[in-house]
Amino acid sequence: MIINLENKIATGNCVLVVPIFEGESPKNLKELPSKVSEFFAKVKENKEFLGKKGEKLYTYIEDKNLPEKLFLIGLGKKENFKYRVAKETGAMIGKQLKAAKAKEATIFLPNEVKQFITEILEGLLISQYEIDKLKTKFSKKENHKIDKVKLFTKLDKDIVEEGLDKAKTMAGASDYIRDLVNYPSNIVDAPYLANEAKKIAKENGYKIEVLGKKELEKIKAGGILAVNQASRKEPKLVVLEYKGAKNKDEKPIAIVGKGIVFDTGGLRVKPGAHMDEMHQDMAGAAVVLGLFKVLKKMNIRKNVVGVMALAENSLGSDAYKPSDIITMLSGLTVEINNTDAEGRVVLGDAVTYSIKYKPKSIVTIATLTGAVYVALGHKYSGLIANNSKIRRELLQAGRESDDLGWPLPLHPEYKKAMDSKYADVRNNDKETASAAGSSKGAAFIERFVGKNDWCHIDIAGTAFTDRPKPYETFGATSSGFYMLLRFLEK
Ligand code: BES
Ligand code: MN
Ligand code: ZN
Repeated sequence: MIINLENKIATGNCVLVVPIFEGESPKNLKELPSKVSEFFAKVKENKEFLGKKGEKLYTYIEDKNLPEKLFLIGLGKKENFKYRVAKETGAMIGKQLKAAKAKEATIFLPNEVKQFITEILEGLLISQYEIDKLKTKFSKKENHKIDKVKLFTKLDKDIVEEGLDKAKTMAGASDYIRDLVNYPSNIVDAPYLANEAKKIAKENGYKIEVLGKKELEKIKAGGILAVNQASRKEPKLVVLEYKGAKNKDEKPIAIVGKGIVFDTGGLRVKPGAHMDEMHQDMAGAAVVLGLFKVLKKMNIRKNVVGVMALAENSLGSDAYKPSDIITMLSGLTVEINNTDAEGRVVLGDAVTYSIKYKPKSIVTIATLTGAVYVALGHKYSGLIANNSKIRRELLQAGRESDDLGWPLPLHPEYKKAMDSKYADVRNNDKETASAAGSSKGAAFIERFVGKNDWCHIDIAGTAFTDRPKPYETFGATSSGFYMLLRFLEK
């Protein structure tokens, strides 16, 4: 889709999209041809279209000087038009144009949407995502593509162009993350993700370090090695460095992502239905890659270190076993009580490695626990922290990008629940595993965080969906990406 700022309404076989606020008077549409405001006046009078949020009206117009089709879309009340509604509006426009098989459209942007141009255009772009990239000529149906979109507005050209630029960059990263998460693990494995990191580093001039099996053995990253032990493929620990702060020596923010390319559960094998979606267990690492795709382009003024713990939790005679006691990179010994609690084990090592970079704060992002879905469902990622300031900032960033988080507690008792009889710590509280499972998972990670400021984002409930929001599609959502980007932008 090519989007241009062009202050002319096209004619002929194309659609004119007119967003309208609830309660708007037709007189206020003076930027548009009178035929449009007359039409709106009529449907408003007949109560056929009032501009309520999500309201749609699609019709033909007969006028040589106008496009053939007109699409009115309701924005709801002006005071409620913020991040989420803007993104949803863009997506509704995108989905409607697609459904109507439109090739060209002119979208009118009223002055009042000035602050949310990025969100509208981002919604428009991400709504076009398709999940059938691996279909071939044998079954692929042709997906309808909108070729050209013109933006018609009285707003300042610079503002619109800046918003458009940002929207394109963000939507590109969101599509990229969603592909990585949707693709299965026979394609997207640990070496594949490490290679993607290399490509991103090369494109942007970032420093990168990739540790394979040999290097991980050398530094004794016992956690990542144990989890990957039954896999035919190599584990990887990848570090990307971006220096965007004025002061290149400023302490970085470390973002550490779980990259389990497939989670069978290990010897504590997952029941069928639960295993089916576990190629998506690398969504945290995919968010790290997506962020590094845009940090430089968006000129983010921070130093950021991205760490990805990439492994496959497989099973077989080589697999790590319940009751194994392993020694982590930090030196801490861990009693493996449940081989399915593998995310925290690889993250423990990755967090320890990130501390080498003397971070100002650490953010871990992971599809860590089924319990977070039980607690918060599809709408909220769980945020667990040893520092309420970072947590607050992340929650706020989530509200401003409709990538919501909700706080979950880290009580001393939950921390104690991870004590082991035989080792320094255990990876599962076997007596009451199902109670406060997300907090306990985070409590395990905290043992490796030490005194560093830290917030953990559990995206197990939000990273993929079978009940997509208006701007989402079935499957991966790229949740966590928007929240973190917004957080880093500030
Ligand atoms: N990858 C899963 C968590 C998960 C579940 C992600 C559902 C997405 C959807 C994680 O490795 C896991 O298996 N966690 C266990 C932890 C338990 C053994 C303490 C869980 O949630 O059951
Ligand atoms: Mn697991
Ligand atoms: Zn997992």
